[in-house]
Amino acid sequence: SAISLEGYESFMIKEIRESWGAVRDTIAGLMGDVEIGKAVKALDRARRVFVVAAGTSFHAGLIFSLRLLRNGKTVIPVIASEHEFLETDEDDAILVISQSGETMDSLLALKRFKSNGSFVISLTNTLGNSISSYSNVALHTRAGPEIGVAATKTFTSQVGALLLLSSMIIGESIDYLKEAETVVANSFSKSIGYMEKIGREVANKSSMYYLGKGLGVPMAMEGALKIKEIAYIHAEAYPAGESKHGPIALVEKGFPVIFVNTGELVDELRNNLKEMQSRQARTYVISAGPELKSDSETREIVLEVSDPRLTTLALAPPLQLIAYYAAKERGTNPDRPRNLAKTVTVR
Ligand code: G6P
Repeated sequence: SAISLEGYESFMIKEIRESWGAVRDTIAGLMGDVEIGKAVKALDRARRVFVVAAGTSFHAGLIFSLRLLRNGKTVIPVIASEHEFLETDEDDAILVISQSGETMDSLLALKRFKSNGSFVISLTNTLGNSISSYSNVALHTRAGPEIGVAATKTFTSQVGALLLLSSMIIGESIDYLKEAETVVANSFSKSIGYMEKIGREVANKSSMYYLGKGLGVPMAMEGALKIKEIAYIHAEAYPAGESKHGPIALVEKGFPVIFVNTGELVDELRNNLKEMQSRQARTYVISAGPELKSDSETREIVLEVSDPRLTTLALAPPLQLIAYYAAKERGTNPDRPRNLAKTVTVR
């Protein structure tokens, strides 16, 4: 078949390696797609924007939501399975994000919000799927087929697509996106060795935290989701400053805490790092901004990012690689995690 491992150990690692090409093709594809103009117009005009998605796609949606919220837009991120608790109307626009285009919760949310008179835009990775067929405007990522159950290159592509879409709505220059492919590729090659080390170290732990600030929060959520999905390690993501309101109670010597540093509020994040160090947590920092390093105990990698808007793209591969290597160390199959399905078509 056209889809084979091509010598790779797993689809997951193959697909992570395909992510920079996927981001490049996604951005180029959307820039040449007349439909994106319609989406921008509808999202710009809307009184409120509801961003609907599940799982990893929801985390991409949070990045989009935060960017627009910071630019004065009213955006409401909605976990697809919670849609029934909200109402929309004809002044609202809906953005549904789904890799498969078939997730039942997302499709049901779309149908109900559309029947309320709201304008629906979708972002999916396949052609001819249910979600795009019900949308007023159907946009696509161009990651190619993804076989691994846990989303990798499709997530990075969604982030690339949503950076472009949000920049167009904000009305800023999109020149910075020319570096998107390079930033993802460089982040992968610079971090892979170090992420393998972290993955192996955390593989025998039963619980861990991912902490970040700003756009680092959805990235931390995605990192924690990945390691739960494929390595079966309990992980929680928190805004770093919130960790002192509960989560820190569990931190003791050797408890792994991964800091996701986007370069936003670095001094505050460094203080949170010190709080964790003073409880003898095993701390790691993945920086896509200024270095956090506060002592010799902290293991930190600093990724080069040409523009602060590309930090989320840079952080995607390392967070996926930690989960991959933790799963490998534990001897689990990263492509087919237990209890999970690639596409969930039940409620
Ligand atoms: C399943 C998959 C996840 C995915 C989620 C949403 O739970 O295991 O990897 O993020 O569905 O899928 P979608 O196709 O709507 O993006």
